[in-house]
This record gives sequence, structure tokens and C-alpha cells, in this order.
Amino acid sequence: MAERVAVLLAAGVSSRMNTHMPKVLHEVTGRPMLAYVLDACRSVGVDKIYVVVGFGADQVRERFAEESADIVWVQQPQQKGTAHAVMCCKEHLADFAGQTLVLCGDGPLIRAKTLKTLIEKHEAEHSAVTLATAVLDDPTGYGRIIRDAYGNIQGIVEDSDCTAAQRAVNEVNPSYYLFNNQVLLRALEQVKPDNVKQEYYLTDALSVIIATGHKVVAITAVRPEEAVGVNSRAQLSVASKIMQQRIQQELMEHGVTIVDPDNTWIDARAKIGQDTVIEPFVYIHGAVKIGRDCRIGPFAFLRHGTVIGDDVVLGVFTELKNTTLADGVRARHHSYLGDAVIGRNVNIGAGSITANFDGENVNRTCVGDDCYIGSGAVLVAPLVLQPGANVGAGKVVSQKNVDRLNEEPGQ
Ligand code: UD1
Ligand code: CA
Repeated sequence: MAERVAVLLAAGVSSRMNTHMPKVLHEVTGRPMLAYVLDACRSVGVDKIYVVVGFGADQVRERFAEESADIVWVQQPQQKGTAHAVMCCKEHLADFAGQTLVLCGDGPLIRAKTLKTLIEKHEAEHSAVTLATAVLDDPTGYGRIIRDAYGNIQGIVEDSDCTAAQRAVNEVNPSYYLFNNQVLLRALEQVKPDNVKQEYYLTDALSVIIATGHKVVAITAVRPEEAVGVNSRAQLSVASKIMQQRIQQELMEHGVTIVDPDNTWIDARAKIGQDTVIEPFVYIHGAVKIGRDCRIGPFAFLRHGTVIGDDVVLGVFTELKNTTLADGVRARHHSYLGDAVIGRNVNIGAGSITANFDGENVNRTCVGDDCYIGSGAVLVAPLVLQPGANVGAGKVVSQKNVDRLNEEPGQ
């Protein structure tokens, strides 16, 4: 395998997002945008990932602190453009003779498969640069790929610098590039900020490389939905929707029924078992795990830390947070279970809740196997109910009175 590193651009101010937060930390289906780009790089094999940060650098570093063994953070003190951002990695790249993959942190829809195609093409063609392009119905905002009469790429022109004829070109640059590293570094030295925005454009490095006579190959390998770059909140919502479709598609291929995909939201980190049915208006947020043969919803809200066994039925307005349900639990109507461990075959009656927060601390509730919790019960945490306990309708159960309840089944 060729030696390969990646440079991810994530320093931009993101003025179009109108945000105090670094753009790459904005979330798409529960994960920061940058996480998806990191995944894609890692899946094709890179020795190091240089992430160029600037605006909100500390926040970005902190967010990825636990998964940064292969990351080298590079500071871009002033955001002078994408070529300048890559140039900030110069001292790290100076002696490197392999391939450098350059990607943008605001392109979360990137697919590993496309990167594999890009790498294969680059190696088969022995090109100095290979880039993957997309053809869009509406290319507005993207750099346009300009080709000659033979189809060879001549350069990329940014939207703001296009002539009317260039603006009509609908092949665009999603910013997926693979460079011969030394060719890249030499070209970057020659990029000038001769454009409307007076920035150093990475796209201009390509024109330099083409002019020097190196082989540059542009393959149309990016599907339109994958090309979406997130520059605005509107594009963030478009990217989220596309990612949601991918998540659901994959779950359905693994045997999960999603009754109404348009009215269901499932976090990218969720895992769901075979033959589970997700009814409409279910919202799953966080790394929620659901077993097999469950029926979830309609209108269920499953939050972070939820782990559900097999053959569980959750009905309307059931909210779970940081809660484990063993196999066979039923919570069909209007319940809130927070910070709880619920044993096998427990029935949670309509409107029953755990009172898990006492104003200062969050406390746990443990309900043993085969307990029966009647309608409208309030389980005041911290609380342990022994297996088989029976809580009558409308009861407020605290640890103080729990032993008595256990002794008098049928209350
Ligand atoms: C860029 C491309 C454009 C392409 C589009 C794809 C250039 C000049 N243009 O435009 O051809 O169609 O992406 O989505 O490259 N960044 C830095 N430092 C900077 C400037 C930007 O790190 O000084 C980062 C940003 O955080 C972002 C990425 O580089 O993640 C791209 O910058 P952005 O301003 O979003 O470029 P676009 O206008 O989208
Ligand atoms: Ca962008």
C-alpha cells in the first residue's frame, strides 16, 4: 500500500452559518460533521490525519480528544483560504513522498467507497492529482470543473469568479482530492490570491499543476447527494435528511421495519435488531441499542444510554433515558423511565414514571424481573423493587415503603 496521509480543512469561520460554534462541530444525525470525514479517511487507510483548525480550534480539539490518536492538529492562525490552510501543514509534509488526500470538514456525506475509487484511479493512471467530481442539477455555490474539447480538466473556477458560460457548467468540485504530496507542496508555493475574495484557493493549485504539465485526472464519481457541502443551516438540514435516509436504508437492509421513514428520526449511533418494527413519529437520539422483535412507537422518544432487549413493546409517548430494559418489557402508554434498570417481562402501566431527579441528584431505579407496575405509579428513586413486586395503580413508591409493598402482592 502506498504511504498516504490526509489533510482535513476545518478552520473556516463559517460566517454563512451565523454561529458561534465551529462549523465542523454542527451535528448531522447526532454526530459532528467532522466525525464522518474522519471515518471516511480511516476506512481507506491513512497513516496520519492533519486536521487544520482555526476558528474555535480548542472546541474542535476537545470534542475529538478521545479519538485523536492518529490526528495531528494544525493551527491556521488566519483564514486566508483553502490553499493557505493546506500550506499550514507544510512543516509536517515537507519530507513526505507519498499520497496526500485533501478533504473538507464540511462535507459529511462523503462515502468511503468514493474515496476507494479515487485512490484506485490515481494509482492506475499514475496521476499527480486525481479528483472526484459530481454533476448537479443546481451547481450554484460550488467550484465548476472546466474541461477542454477532449474532456481533459483545465481547471476549477469558483462560483464567485465564474463567467456566465462557466456558471452554466454543472459539473462541480466536491473537494475530494488525492495529490502526489511533493507536487502539491510545490504548486501551493505559486498560488496567488487573485480572485474576488482575495483568498488563496486550493483549486488554483490544480491550475498550477496542470500548467506544469503534470497529469491531473478528474473522475465523475461522486453522486449528487454526496456532494453537498454545508455552508448554511439550510444545507445542514439537507445533509441531515440525506444522512437520515442512509441510516434508515441500512437498517431496513438489516431487517428492521420502518413504517414511515419520513416521520421517523434515528441517530447515526443507534443499533436496532432484526424484525423490530419502528412505528411512525419515533425519535431515537444517541447511541441507543434496541434488540430483536421489538415494537417501538408510535411517538416514542428514546434518548442516550438506552439499551433495550428483545421482544419489548413501547407505545405512545414513552420516553426512555439512560435506561436498560430486559427482554419482554411492556411500556405501552405515556411513561417516562430515566436512569432505570427494568427486569424481564416487567409491565409498566399507562402513565407510570420514574422520579429520577430529586432537585440535586439523578438517582437510579431498579425493577426486578416480572414486576407489575400499575397505571399512574410514581417510582421515586433511588429505589430497588424485588422481582415479582406488584405496584398498584396511582401508588407513589419510595424505598421507605417498598418492603411493605413487596410483602403484600396485589396492592
Ligand atoms: C470549496 C471549494 C469549491 C468546492 C466546495 C465544495 C475552494 C477555493 N473552493 O468552496 O471549489 O466546490 O468547497 O464544498 O477550495 N477552510 C479552512 N481555512 C480557510 C478557508 C476554508 O480551513 O482559510 C475550510 C473550511 O472550514 C471548510 C473548507 O475549508 O471546511 C472549505 O471552505 P469553504 O469556505 O466552505 O469553501 P467553499 O466556498 O464551500
Ligand atoms: Ca464549503
